[in-house]
Amino acid sequence: MKEFRKELLDLVPYTPGEQPSSKSKIIKLNTNENPYAPSPKCSIALKEIMDLGLLRKYPNPSSDSLRDSIAQVYGISKENILVTNGSDEAIRLLFLGVLGNQSTIASPDPTYSAYPVFADTIMVDYCFIKVPLLENFHFDWQSLLETQADLVAFANPNAPTSLLEPKEQVLDFVNKFPGFVLCDEAYIDFAKANSSCIQEACSSDNLFVSRTFSKSYSLAGLRVGFLVGSTKNIAILHKLKDSYNVGMLDQAIAQAAISDQDYFKEITSKILATRSSLSSSLVDLGCDVVTSSTNFLFVKPPKGHKAKDWFEKLKNQAIYIRYFSSGVSSDFIRITIGTDEESNHVLSAIRNFLENP
Ligand SMILES: Cc1ncc(COP(=O)(O)O)c(C=O)c1O
Repeated sequence: MKEFRKELLDLVPYTPGEQPSSKSKIIKLNTNENPYAPSPKCSIALKEIMDLGLLRKYPNPSSDSLRDSIAQVYGISKENILVTNGSDEAIRLLFLGVLGNQSTIASPDPTYSAYPVFADTIMVDYCFIKVPLLENFHFDWQSLLETQADLVAFANPNAPTSLLEPKEQVLDFVNKFPGFVLCDEAYIDFAKANSSCIQEACSSDNLFVSRTFSKSYSLAGLRVGFLVGSTKNIAILHKLKDSYNVGMLDQAIAQAAISDQDYFKEITSKILATRSSLSSSLVDLGCDVVTSSTNFLFVKPPKGHKAKDWFEKLKNQAIYIRYFSSGVSSDFIRITIGTDEESNHVLSAIRNFLENP
């Protein structure tokens, strides 16, 4: 009988932000991509592989050179790192390793909305506990603790709120919590220094940190991420990956990007400057803007204006941002930090909505 599993037929896939054709003249601030090109060193790495005809061979199966470079940048050991096809794969492999029938996973709500979908793709009879954020949008650590779940997963800084949980509180939670903890640090490079738990994950038996090259390294199109944990935990999860889960070009380009820390710092500080000026201008216009530690802003329009209307009106003007229609998020729009010029377009559109409601 040719039949798919019922769990698969019932599965509702993740809906990513719209990806219009790259030729269209759209101001694209809907998926938290970096507005700047990747490091120029990436082109050199790409050209070298093409010139030498190396793609006829399989890539290094465990991304060894890339792991060496990552280890060097963060002062950790390569045995603490599993390189993956985007951080989405890192998160999914962890879920696959932990979730079984009757297991539980908990997350603050809202957080990265792909977690329940990743858990569903494992197709076991598990339970997902969503713990609402506190009124100030910070995590309700006590309620997360009380879930006693097998795994707690959250993004820090969180998406879509952009808010950072202090490192001390994350580590305090990890110490008290008996299950595994995934701290998804996709946006941590846009937060203040020393906010990451990456080093602590190496010596913890229950903490994992996931990272991505898609945001601060400007390589969303490449699909490279990684998971950090104790040597023992990472060795176990290594068994779950495909033999060649990350391509040769992906490994080499990501390595070139992470090795060019000067360029990384230059584009990151430009994004932080744009974030700061866009945020102040929106506040001056009467919007509520959450204090962002990310490359996006979570913005509530002033009284009398609806987030959903702004999303639709901006879209009509070829400015794409993100709107989530459920829960607390429904009162907010999420705007990715683009270039200064893109920010000015958003601001003048919003000024216009306010002047001509
Ligand atoms: C919080 C969070 N984690 C992970 C990801 C996935 O990143 P990647 O491109 O590395 O799969 C995203 C993507 O937007 C994200 O917002």
